[in-house]
Amino acid sequence: MANRETQTITGQHPLPVGPCTVVIFGASGDLTRRKLVPALYNLARQHLLPDSFAIVGVATSELGTDAFRERLGREARDHVRGELDAATWSWLLSRVTYLPGNFRDADTYRRLLTVLDQVDAERGTGGNFVFYLATPPTFFGEIVQRLDGAGLAGEEAGRFRRIVVEKPFGTDLDSARVLNRQLCDSVNEGQIYRIDHYLGKETVQNILVFRFANGIFEPIWNRRYVDHVQITVAEELGVEERGTYYEGAGALRDMFPNHLFQLLALTAMEPPISFAAQSVRDEKAKVLHAIKPITSEEVLSWTVRGQYGEAGTREGRVAAYRAESKIAADSATETYAAVKLLIDSWRWAGVPFYLRSGKRLARRQTEIAIQFKCAPSVLFRETAVSRLECNVMVIRVQPEEGIAVSFGAKVPGPSLQIGSVNMDFSYEDYFGATPSTGYETLLYDCMNGDATLFQRADTVEAGWRVVMPILDVWRAIPPRSFPNYASGSQGPAEADQLLARDGRAWRPLR
Ligand code: BG6
Repeated sequence: MANRETQTITGQHPLPVGPCTVVIFGASGDLTRRKLVPALYNLARQHLLPDSFAIVGVATSELGTDAFRERLGREARDHVRGELDAATWSWLLSRVTYLPGNFRDADTYRRLLTVLDQVDAERGTGGNFVFYLATPPTFFGEIVQRLDGAGLAGEEAGRFRRIVVEKPFGTDLDSARVLNRQLCDSVNEGQIYRIDHYLGKETVQNILVFRFANGIFEPIWNRRYVDHVQITVAEELGVEERGTYYEGAGALRDMFPNHLFQLLALTAMEPPISFAAQSVRDEKAKVLHAIKPITSEEVLSWTVRGQYGEAGTREGRVAAYRAESKIAADSATETYAAVKLLIDSWRWAGVPFYLRSGKRLARRQTEIAIQFKCAPSVLFRETAVSRLECNVMVIRVQPEEGIAVSFGAKVPGPSLQIGSVNMDFSYEDYFGATPSTGYETLLYDCMNGDATLFQRADTVEAGWRVVMPILDVWRAIPPRSFPNYASGSQGPAEADQLLARDGRAWRPLR
């Protein structure tokens, strides 16, 4: 805590966004109550929403606005962290209007037009609309086409019309292309905000600041000094209630083309020339385009898939994936994936990036570990030191957000012994904990028209292009050993072998 006193903060305080209405399709769903409404509340609490602000919820349940407000209020308040500020909460709910309707029915959009006219006139939201598609992905294309058909998608007379699209964005390269084309038939690319909620995490946004606002890291951030990089997104939870979606997706589709590749791109990108959306997104796209395409043979030796089996964890006995609700008893869906990738660029040629993600692992741990090359050991040849530890820099994305650098230090005493010690920065110690759902920045940026943290069409397609050879080979050769890792473990043994073949090892999940 003493450290907090020594921090200096530079930069401006954020200003409230301009007048607008946020229209949420799928307003009775999980995302709305767990993330979107609590995030809007957190923004209101920080005085970042204007008085001229409104929310219109669209969903199929036949409810009136009062009943919807009451239900939303009840369900969403449990997801607001910290003590609820009653005045802000009722300010927000008083701005909610509900419209029941089928997303595939033209009449819904005619009625939406009327409701938006009323809300706009009442709240003075300036005809500016953010349409948030918090629906199953099968509706994305059609909703946008129908908004356009109803005259709601055009940006005339300085009014903005923005579309926020949730993941998953397609299920493979072809479907992502079709969806991109469908959206771009109705709106411009500049109106589309493809969300990856990992980019809303402070620690992920900090990667850019950490790399480019400090003079000491960038000179060593390349193949001359870096031995390899490990990117881990490990979860303790299983598939939960999402069996139907997950069975068709699996860990690779669910996590890699989006979250893991975003972490990879931020870690590996060149410095952009500014924080303008185009500069940042150009550099991130270049990383994905520079990933060496994986051949079918490489898929066999550079990738590992796994599925969790039954086991005991800290919380007690947990079921195998195949015994979870809505999962086939002989399911071949992977709940774990590990992939080795090479980036064919001047900065990274020859440096392997090992990526892994899985459910029901030993611990929730999302981190990026930059493993530096070891120092030459000649100096220590005639001492008791038999081995030098190599330096590692770990960016802890969650939990216990922070950054640590390990280095060797002399253990006090008459003989020469080296201990590996950590220089450790913890977010909470320096900046305190701020209640956040992770959607605040994304919503704020979208309402402000800043697309830096959103995915562009070409980046989404580039991500799918990288995983396609893996999906193809995995589809052609069904897994033979599922389940192949126990719940609560470090993952499949094959994943350890993947690194062991290169003379390396995963950082333990602990
Ligand atoms: C989602 C995936 O996008 O991200 C889930 O669909 C996963 O399967 C989740 O559990 C992980 O997000 P977080 O923020 O908990 O790391």
